[in-house]
Amino acid sequence: MKRPRAESLDEVPGGPSFGSVLCRLSELPPRGSKAFQFRDGRLRYDIFVQRWDDKVYAYRDVCPHLSLPLDWRRGHFLDVDGQNIQCGHHGARFRVEDGLCIEGPCKGEYLTPVRIAVRGDEVQVA
Ligand code: FES
Repeated sequence: MKRPRAESLDEVPGGPSFGSVLCRLSELPPRGSKAFQFRDGRLRYDIFVQRWDDKVYAYRDVCPHLSLPLDWRRGHFLDVDGQNIQCGHHGARFRVEDGLCIEGPCKGEYLTPVRIAVRGDEVQVA
């Protein structure tokens, strides 16, 4: 059964594989994010991409504190100031550029990065 989350959530069958196109760069506003849910049988693999002006970062959608999804509002990952990724459960804040937790219960831990590449207008799994 599908878990409806947000209009920005794409469900992609199978696990993420090299070269899979996640989205188009032009779909992401300068500080926009997009969540993806891969399914491979019973396994689920949630990731999100976060555009940061001219760069794009991708992480597993799993907070290092209690392994819960990060988005505080469905498909939204930045804090109200738009400066850091913020976990919606206990408020941990992470730097966008490297996923380091700078404040909160998992301070000093990192989000798990997902290797991506931007080729032309495509954001791909690398
Ligand atoms: S689960 Fe993210 S801060 Fe607790």
